[in-house]
Amino acid sequence: MPRSRSVVAETFRVAAMVCVVCAVLVSTAAVTLRDRQRANAELDRKKNVLAAAGVIEAGSAPSADEIERRFADFSVVVVDLETGDPDPSFDATGYDPREPGTAPGATLPRPPNEAQVREVPRRTLVYERRDDAGRLELLVLPIEGQGLWARMYGYLALGPDLSTVRGLTYYQHGETPGLGGEVDNPRWRARWPGRQAFDDEGQAAIEVIRGAAGPPEDDPYRVDGLSGATITSRGVTAMLHFWLGELGFGPYLDRLRKEDSGGEAS
Ligand SMILES: Cc1cc2nc3c(=O)[nH]c(=O)nc-3n(C[C@H](O)[C@H](O)[C@H](O)COP(=O)(O)O)c2cc1C
Repeated sequence: MPRSRSVVAETFRVAAMVCVVCAVLVSTAAVTLRDRQRANAELDRKKNVLAAAGVIEAGSAPSADEIERRFADFSVVVVDLETGDPDPSFDATGYDPREPGTAPGATLPRPPNEAQVREVPRRTLVYERRDDAGRLELLVLPIEGQGLWARMYGYLALGPDLSTVRGLTYYQHGETPGLGGEVDNPRWRARWPGRQAFDDEGQAAIEVIRGAAGPPEDDPYRVDGLSGATITSRGVTAMLHFWLGELGFGPYLDRLRKEDSGGEAS
């Protein structure tokens, strides 16, 4: 064989071997790390729920043990958004409401709305903390809606009267740092606890205004706007109204209101 042909053949042989070795390495890593990735995603979800509930400081770095210990006080409840009823028959192990699947009925279409939520998962997960007598202490609801640049995902925590806000956190968004991205700012998040989600008529009344709001005692329904980020601010208001209303958690909240919750406990 001429020397140049053997060099070409050798080059292809080595390249093919490198490809095979790399493919094996990547596939092995993907398979062996899959469980760990799932566990990390699950831990992150718990941490975000706890941060919204004010049980841990948002942006802090508690240990995995600490997260698990605090989260153990909460129960994960599957809620059927069509009826507002819990669905204990549904096995939520590994279920991500953001990826509810494509089976018929897995999602429910929604008419045009300001939050730009076109469909919701038929079944979603909410987080309840109850006292020893079974009375609700804290409820954490997942929320999502459109910001200026991308969808924003977060959690809203309510007290046992189902109106007093305990906290709001966003764990994923694409807003501009320093503008809409200030939804992450601990100072802005601190404006939320103590506000009222619903007015005396039971309508979702909480809103992010332009400018500054007063303290929760004097100005219960309004929260400071994000300066230079009116569109993100409006997006936050729109998604809260969506999820607190009939198209979101309204039926489930009505159901909880009928329980003898004993009112605001703390
Ligand atoms: C580079 C750039 C990034 C922006 N990012 C945001 C944002 O994250 N959220 C937002 O509401 N507005 C953002 N804006 C401003 C909007 O385009 C729009 O002007 C603004 O929402 C109006 O709010 P204002 O009336 O408070 O100024 C951005 C503008 C620029 C030029």
